[in-house]
Amino acid sequence: MKMTSSVLATLVATAVVVTLQAQVEERPIPRIVKKDGRFALFVDGAPYLMLGAQVHNSSSWPATLPKVWPAVEYLHVNTVEMPVYWDRFEPRPGQYDYTVIDTLLKEARQHNVRLVLLWFGTWKNGSQHYMPEWMKLDLVRYPHMVDRNGQAVDSPSPHAAASLEADRSAFTAFMRHLKGADPQRTVIMVQVENEAGAWGSVRDYSPAAQKLFDAPVPPELLGAMHVKPASPSPSWQQAFGPDADEYFQAWSVARYIGQVAAAGKAAYPLPMYVNAALRDPFHPGPPGLPGASGNYESGGPTDNVLPIWKAAAPAIDILAPDDYQNDDDAYLKVLELYHRDDNPLFVPETGGAGKDRFFFAALALQTIGFSPFGMDYTHRAADRSMNQADPSRPQDDFLTPWAMNYRLVGPMQREIARLNFEGKLQAVAEELGKAKVTLPFGSWDAVVSFGAAPNNRASGNPKLAGRALVAQLKDDQFLVAGYFCSVDFRPAGNQQQRKSLHIVEGTEQNPSALIDGKWQHRQFLRVEEGTYENGVFKAIRDWNGDETDWGLDFGEEPVVLRVSLATY
Ligand code: DGJ
Repeated sequence: MKMTSSVLATLVATAVVVTLQAQVEERPIPRIVKKDGRFALFVDGAPYLMLGAQVHNSSSWPATLPKVWPAVEYLHVNTVEMPVYWDRFEPRPGQYDYTVIDTLLKEARQHNVRLVLLWFGTWKNGSQHYMPEWMKLDLVRYPHMVDRNGQAVDSPSPHAAASLEADRSAFTAFMRHLKGADPQRTVIMVQVENEAGAWGSVRDYSPAAQKLFDAPVPPELLGAMHVKPASPSPSWQQAFGPDADEYFQAWSVARYIGQVAAAGKAAYPLPMYVNAALRDPFHPGPPGLPGASGNYESGGPTDNVLPIWKAAAPAIDILAPDDYQNDDDAYLKVLELYHRDDNPLFVPETGGAGKDRFFFAALALQTIGFSPFGMDYTHRAADRSMNQADPSRPQDDFLTPWAMNYRLVGPMQREIARLNFEGKLQAVAEELGKAKVTLPFGSWDAVVSFGAAPNNRASGNPKLAGRALVAQLKDDQFLVAGYFCSVDFRPAGNQQQRKSLHIVEGTEQNPSALIDGKWQHRQFLRVEEGTYENGVFKAIRDWNGDETDWGLDFGEEPVVLRVSLATY
């Protein structure tokens, strides 16, 4: 065969690509690991704390990326969450376009960050808005949900077999491509769909759905929900009474997404999660009832249906809350609800004035990652309303409170992730009326006070902005970091003494305790300010005299201390 110059050129180019790929070291596939009841996200074989940011929905376009990277750099994130849009990925049935994915991989590597890719597939915020046009125009094959009155809802039916098949095939193609294109593991997790469920109806009332609703509940669900039914094969109504419609919807959506995820995982087993549009954790209204106060999206992994999701979608590793709760107590309650023995805490979206400090509340629950939403320079008006604490401040300032967290933790994220995985770390974010918090570490109590130093410690900051983390490095040595707080340590006796309660907290200048009738006073052996470089603590200077005589104060600069203690 005679070779034309263009065939030759193609062969040479292919050989170059193959050689280059061979030169890229293949790293371990990221995974979720559980040990001693705690979870970690392992990246490159070790615990990784995802310091994330999600871009606006329309920002993962190659032409828009120049407005993303400066914000990413300013924030000091290590991972960016970016959507992949099904309608653009599969413009014609079975024809997949990988260019956006490849661009994201290339640019993320250039900017030295990891990615979490968000599969905007069948569901995006409860609707099918990112389904390919050829699907949107064929409502018979790819139907919407139908409400109680027989009206179509702006939400895809989770009982549409052809939609499931199309999503499964497209997602599998996406994951297969990723496997080949990303031996470096730039992508560390994948979100399957986005805020799935329905706003406009508690469940699908289509004939296909109704038939399933009238049939017996799958036995594995009865087991997962610990239901002991009166009859051996109860219907949904018999098993779950007033919750039947909602539970049926959750099961249906979760089964659908579980199958999409399982197919994708068979191609490439990255950790996968589903994000939830939440319900109010204290005062939920009715699900899927438009206009009703407290209405929430029905069928997604809201806190009341997490066991249903676990049973229906085992291929999903994490059910993750998009925490936009305005009320601080509600915000914190959500973190608690999603931190479970069968579910690592991961906050894939968050926002709101003053909520940046709750990164530390998430750390206290061993979060594997945290990610404020809308962190780029494409829609400044929206950013201001969503994230900026003080609208009178300059436009770009919406990033600053979030950037502070990552500036502090970024250089030591691997150590923080490891210490948290080993159960050696505690953290706290300031709450109203809780200006002094004690964190117990065996023979030492770390005492965190919020308020302006030196006179108003423990009176609270004017704006609730305080945050602190303390990790035990050795019996008498701690890592301490934070903002707008003061931290000190008080002797706490041994286990037996603590049990016998013969410990009285002292009131002297140096924290002291009367333990079994003998005073013990805290002494700083050494307080080193420093930073982590390649996993090793490098001291910059010692704090002494004025900096340690009144406790250790943290202001608005990122400061990390290694504190060695003794008693006298
Ligand atoms: C939550 C969704 O998951 C995001 O995709 C985005 O729509 C934000 N809401 C906007 O607030």
